[in-house]
Amino acid sequence: MKPIKIKEGIYWVGGIDWDLRNFHGYLTQRGSTYNSYLIIDEKITLIDNVKHYLAPEQIRRISRLIDPGKIDYIIQNHIEMDHSGSLPAVMELCPNAVIMASPKGIEGLPKHYGRDWKFQPVKTGEVLNLGKRKLQFIQTPMVHWPDNMVSYCPEEKILFSNDAFGQHIASTERFDGEIPLGIILEEAKKYYANIVLPYSRQVIKALEALDGIPLDYICPSHGLIWHNRIPEILSEYQKWSANQVENKAVIVYDTMWKSTEKMAYAIQDVFEEKGIMTGMYQLQHNHISDIMTEILNSKYICVGSPTLNNNILPNVAAFLTYLKGLAPSGRIGLAFGSYGWGGQSIGIVDTILKECGFDLLESIKAQYVPDEDKLKAIRNDLVKQLTKEEI
Ligand code: FEO
Repeated sequence: MKPIKIKEGIYWVGGIDWDLRNFHGYLTQRGSTYNSYLIIDEKITLIDNVKHYLAPEQIRRISRLIDPGKIDYIIQNHIEMDHSGSLPAVMELCPNAVIMASPKGIEGLPKHYGRDWKFQPVKTGEVLNLGKRKLQFIQTPMVHWPDNMVSYCPEEKILFSNDAFGQHIASTERFDGEIPLGIILEEAKKYYANIVLPYSRQVIKALEALDGIPLDYICPSHGLIWHNRIPEILSEYQKWSANQVENKAVIVYDTMWKSTEKMAYAIQDVFEEKGIMTGMYQLQHNHISDIMTEILNSKYICVGSPTLNNNILPNVAAFLTYLKGLAPSGRIGLAFGSYGWGGQSIGIVDTILKECGFDLLESIKAQYVPDEDKLKAIRNDLVKQLTKEEI
């Protein structure tokens, strides 16, 4: 386990979480990394840490370069435990190091770890002199917690961006040119949709704060380091944070006896006829975090559930809870479903989509098993609604 050189005196010393498949409910098929960076200057500085169980790996990488006891500063850009979990183990080795974080970060760290370390709060505009290099701090609250900040080294044109621009990819490749761009952007999109999306307004502010800053490297706290593809990831972040949607639809549903499924496919027919690209997501076979990736830039969100015990199916409830928390805005919603007698599920889905702030199409119901006439009526009804919506 060796450190990876980024530039002379600057190294990646993080941990690779090959087996990670669940990141608080987010399916991480490719695992992840927790990136930690070491700057060897007159003052030796460690930027961010790793999850607690990868502390030995991080410390081994650091120890290939320096005696960890020589670390002067630890910059904790974010205190969430995937980036601070190894702090107790690291601090055992350099007990005199000064830990710097935003004021919110300094408030939170003792509450996480209960230790009496040397803390120093830093704010936007403050500069830390390392010798030949400096670090400038820019607070980026809510990207992803209130404490978040980024650190910028002007001499090297490196931005240590923490969660921003991250992707959950476990690999020994460290730079964006080493893995096909489509894979990295897909994982960056999934990361944005499942982690960053609720904080898009704060992302816009952070992008404004970074506007015009020369960037040779963006070093996030998860996944690959951006170097060759910086314009591409900045452009995607501009689009995602501005909530730019495409004329695409997602149809998300669960089904008991295939009646709601028949409706889902009738709805899909209509979108297809209109040339609107559509994804079908049966919730027994698709993970909610993968569906969110598609929702990130889709205009139409159609959600179907049959009625079960006067309510919606549990899979649909879980999806809607997740969707509401991630709060995509400016979408067009459609509730649909089959029922036997009560038919409450359609109203429940409709209400939740309204609570998400979506404009709603008129919901679609079918009692028992929709026959071909009923499916035709569903298609005709949706065609009319979409035509009206296009006008
Ligand atoms: Fe990767 Fe908000 O922690």
